[in-house]
Amino acid sequence: MEIRALGGQGLQVGAEGLGLMGMTAHYGATDETESLATIDRALELGVTLLDTAEGYGPFRNEQLLGKALAANGRREDVVIATKTGAEFTDEGAFLGHNATPEYIRRAADRSLRHLGTDHIDLYYLHRIDPNVPVEESMGAMAELVAAGKVRHVGLCEAAPATIARAHAVHPLAAVQTEYSLFERGIEYDGVLDTLRELGIGLVAYSPLGRGFLSGAITTPEDFAADDFRRTDPRFQGENFARNLAVVDQVRRLAADKGVTPSQLALAWTLSRGAVPIPGTKRRRYLEENIAATAVTITAADLAAIDAVAPHGVVSGDRYAPELMKSLNG
Ligand SMILES: NC(=O)c1ccc[n+]([C@@H]2O[C@H](COP(=O)([O-])OP(=O)(O)OC[C@H]3O[C@@H](n4cnc5c(N)ncnc54)[C@H](OP(=O)(O)O)[C@@H]3O)[C@@H](O)[C@H]2O)c1
Repeated sequence: MEIRALGGQGLQVGAEGLGLMGMTAHYGATDETESLATIDRALELGVTLLDTAEGYGPFRNEQLLGKALAANGRREDVVIATKTGAEFTDEGAFLGHNATPEYIRRAADRSLRHLGTDHIDLYYLHRIDPNVPVEESMGAMAELVAAGKVRHVGLCEAAPATIARAHAVHPLAAVQTEYSLFERGIEYDGVLDTLRELGIGLVAYSPLGRGFLSGAITTPEDFAADDFRRTDPRFQGENFARNLAVVDQVRRLAADKGVTPSQLALAWTLSRGAVPIPGTKRRRYLEENIAATAVTITAADLAAIDAVAPHGVVSGDRYAPELMKSLNG
């Protein structure tokens, strides 16, 4: 797999990463044996960027990754990306935003323990804490870099002005945000321009629209009772039907090109300069998704994709109202 520079701070990663979230949270039944095998297979196929967070589980996702790396001995081949900024007690109770320097220091030590490593390669603020100036949060991140506990720093879901303020305190390697054929907001709200201007890498999360763009989801009724997507507006009622019609168009374009819908969606994010981190807990999807790195998106493909999935094509917000409020606007 092609190796890409992620931002301008010397961080290099395989062009496609792997999102681990679903292995312990949010997307239905989990299977530790298959998850560990999926992580190992990803490394065999050239993936280096593995995306986790203290909140996925909570803690169980970082622990799973720690277990995988202890068993396969491949810590040095991996770029561990994890996140903090929403407070969890040691017992896993969620207390809300907290990106104070005190919490960040405490959370980083806890993540290191769970991951079984002495450094985090890329440490993100999972959300911007509205009660803490980003400069203060970034001061703590810079201290962690100085202490050797963190190699590179990133933000998730940050507005252009916040990105610039944070970058002035300590250079950001990457910003992680939702980016897919279903979510092209950053092309219009200044985020993409800011990243280009400041030489910051883009990590595209939910690049398959939380699975919708794979074409495998045909009814929301198949989701487990506690699946996150049951509360996601894009998977509700009329929105679901309208979005499925867009997926059908994506499926048609993919078939014309001789690839799967997931591969088309991922190849598109790669062609936009992003490093996508599609999430899966099974080797079968992983292998299909990684094959997208060999798919070339031509100018004609781009035009056809723009016609089918322009900005705003999707129906419904990308989070329920309470979670929309946690995005930095
Ligand atoms: N920073 C943030 O706020 C944030 C938010 C959300 C996600 N993330 C990160 O981004 C990663 C990816 O996002 P995501 O997992 O939300 O969404 P995604 O990558 O768009 O989609 C994941 C879903 O698609 C399914 N899938 C994957 N490949 C498939 C294929 N080839 N065919 C059919 N279905 C396929 C997965 O199924 P299975 O699970 O059954 O394999 C899973 O249900 C996460 O794992 C997490 O690390 C970050």
